Amino acid sequence: MTHWKLGIIGGSGLYALEGLESVRSETVETPWGAPSAPLTHGTLNGVELVFLPRHGAGHRLSPSDIPFRANIAALKMAGCTDIVSISACGSLREHLAPGHFVIVDQYVDRTDGRARSFFGAGCVAHVPMAQPVCARLAGLIGDAGEAAGVPVQRGGTYITIEGPQFSTRAESELYRHWGMDVIGMTNMPEARLAREAELPYASIAMVTDYDCWRDGEESVDVAAVLRVMRDNTVKARALLTRLTAMLAGRERAPDPVDTVLDTAIITPPEAR
Ligand code: ADE
Repeated sequence: MTHWKLGIIGGSGLYALEGLESVRSETVETPWGAPSAPLTHGTLNGVELVFLPRHGAGHRLSPSDIPFRANIAALKMAGCTDIVSISACGSLREHLAPGHFVIVDQYVDRTDGRARSFFGAGCVAHVPMAQPVCARLAGLIGDAGEAAGVPVQRGGTYITIEGPQFSTRAESELYRHWGMDVIGMTNMPEARLAREAELPYASIAMVTDYDCWRDGEESVDVAAVLRVMRDNTVKARALLTRLTAMLAGRERAPDPVDTVLDTAIITPPEAR
C-alpha cells in the first residue's frame, strides 16, 4: 500500500509544526543549492510529514530570495508524495474577510525574474499547467478545514506579485477587475516547480487583510498582517491535524501528476 508523505511549506507565521512525533531535523543540499531551512521530519496522527519554513528561520528570506527550486527539490529528495503550501494572502473580495482560508485552484503569475523551471538548455520540458492544483488534495484540505471549523472557500484565483512592496491601489483594483480572489508573493513559481517535480500541489491561502482596494479600510501593512496571522496559524495547525487524521491508514492511489514528465520532455533521450 502506498502511503502519503506530505511536504508542508509554511509561510509567514508558520515557522514550525507543533505536536509532531519522532521529530528529526535534517540539513540538506540539492543540485539547486540549500533550501530555505533544514527539513523537519516527523509524524502527525501516524502520517509522515516533512516541514519546511519558506522564509527560513527567523523570516530572513524576502519572497524574491526564496530558493524555490531547492525547496521543491529537497522535498522531492525526502520522498514526499504531495505538497501542501500554506501562506498568508490579501483578499481582493468583500466576502473573503481576514481569517478566511482559500483553497486555491488557479494562479496568475506576475512574478519577475525568479527561476521558474528545473529544465532549460539541454533538456526541454513543457508540463501542463491548466489545472495547477491537485483537485484530490485540495478537496481533502477543504474537508479538513470544514471539520476543524475554519471558514474555508473551495477554489479561488491567487495572483502572485513579485513584491516585496505591497500593491498600489490602481494595481489592486486592476487585479479585482481581472477576477483575482487573493493576492500573495510566494505561490509562484512554487506551484510550477512542484508540477515539474511530479509532486501534486495544493495551497491554503490564509487571508490576513483586504490589501488596499477597499474604501474605509486601512491599507495593508505588516502590523495588520501580523495581528491576523497569529489566529490563522492556530487554525492552520487544527486543519493539518484533521487532514492527517483523514489520511492516516488511507491508501494513496496514483495521481496523474506522479508521472507527468512521461509526456512532457520534448528533447529526445539521445540528445539530452
Ligand atoms: N500577503 C499578505 N497580504 C498580502 C497582500 N495584501 N499583498 C501581497 N501579499 C500579501
